[in-house]
Amino acid sequence: MAINKVSQEEINKQFEYMHKAKDIVSKRYKNSKYAINTMGCKLNEADSEKISGMLEEMGYVKTENFEEANLVVFNTCSIRENAEEKVFGKLGELKNIKQQNDMIICFAGCMSQEPHVIEKIKKSYSLVDIIFGTHNIYKFPEMLFDKLNQKDNKRIVDVWDIDGEIYEGLPVKRESKSQASIIIMNGCNNFCSYCIVPYVRGRERSRQPEDILFEARELAKDGCKEILLLGQNVNSYNPREGYNFANLLSDLDKIDGINIIRFTSPHPKDFKGDVIDVISKSNKISKVIHLPLQSGSSRVLKLMNRGYTKEEYLDLAKRIKEKIPEALFTTDIIVGFPGETEEDFEDTLDVVRKMEYEQVFMFIYSVRKGTRAEKMEGHIPEEVKSERFSRLKTLSDSITEEIMNKYVGTTQKVLVEGESRTNKDVLTGRTWSGRIVNFEGSRELIGKEIEVKIVSQHVWYLKGQII
Ligand code: 5AD
Ligand code: SF4
Repeated sequence: MAINKVSQEEINKQFEYMHKAKDIVSKRYKNSKYAINTMGCKLNEADSEKISGMLEEMGYVKTENFEEANLVVFNTCSIRENAEEKVFGKLGELKNIKQQNDMIICFAGCMSQEPHVIEKIKKSYSLVDIIFGTHNIYKFPEMLFDKLNQKDNKRIVDVWDIDGEIYEGLPVKRESKSQASIIIMNGCNNFCSYCIVPYVRGRERSRQPEDILFEARELAKDGCKEILLLGQNVNSYNPREGYNFANLLSDLDKIDGINIIRFTSPHPKDFKGDVIDVISKSNKISKVIHLPLQSGSSRVLKLMNRGYTKEEYLDLAKRIKEKIPEALFTTDIIVGFPGETEEDFEDTLDVVRKMEYEQVFMFIYSVRKGTRAEKMEGHIPEEVKSERFSRLKTLSDSITEEIMNKYVGTTQKVLVEGESRTNKDVLTGRTWSGRIVNFEGSRELIGKEIEVKIVSQHVWYLKGQII
């Protein structure tokens, strides 16, 4: 569904707050630094780029070292329980340095949308200064200004349980020049029974194509080569009557300078022929398709409310392969959903064998408060879940190894992303299929597309030589 935009007046107001905050920040700190802890998915990463953009406009400079920061943002994820536990541990670590750094601590993202989390912070984490949710990120400058301007030491909490409007035109600090993420829609209407996302991100809201195309053209002018379109369910992108995800893909395909277009995540139940057609005709849209399976058992899929059966999923993959023979697939799988039997799990393994995924993102089922699966019968003991997880991993690893072996000796076109994290003399990039390739070369190649011969494989990456 399309949705109203935040008015230009409101955006201008936030710019004013940024300028006023900058004044205070420059007087209060010698070198104001911020650190941001981003958990979870690519959408959160993209939100963090926006939060960073606003902070830099307010005079803060980024640091990776939390110990020296004057402002810290936790952009949190609530998809699984362990992510939630980690954030409270990290918050606790800041207790000793908060005063010394005159630090402002902000708590944002999906966890802020959960009432029990807010209660916990109110009860036990007095060090948190600002809490805001996923619907009102654009209000961050106003909240921070209020905090900086405060005489008393009151916590600011602004979390909305109504769907926020789409906003355009606020600053963004991109992590990379050659690649950029573009959020095309927010929220989810699917209510898969295990998933917290529809509760913390609200209903589907699509950005207008003109705004997305404008952003992509600006990025291209700035040297960006690759864009990643983001949304919880991109193929239900629906900004207005008569315009859908296939239309958006084909419009983006025409932008000069953008050479690679990826998207994540589509939902198998909404993957229609028009999108398959557009991908098949384009030489820019990635042929690596993320097709979240979740389970290979039709019975479990029904309990999960996924809207497709095992057979329908395999049939979709077949139809994609018929039109796009070079298509490769990646997927998400949950093991140990309530009621999953050994037979159900075997069905999952069966699909993994048949699909020969490039990559399987595997998750152990984690109970989420307020979801339908929480109340289902037959929760699986932890040891059974772990045992199934390791069987799935063994299978997927063996498929990955076979796939990686096939690359050795081939020549691959690689977009050079930067220096390797572990070795400054080595450059790193990706093949069109998304595989990491490391090779020696000069820094001037960063952002360019080059040909690399693959000499060996190392499970998680390929080693290459420039030719
Ligand atoms: N437990 C485990 N995994 C989950 N995911 C979503 N919710 C849960 C949960 N409660 C997984 C799904 C989804 C991915 C982003 O996270 O596989 O596709
Ligand atoms: Fe969660 Fe399902 Fe929506 Fe994905 S499609 S965000 S798994 S509810």
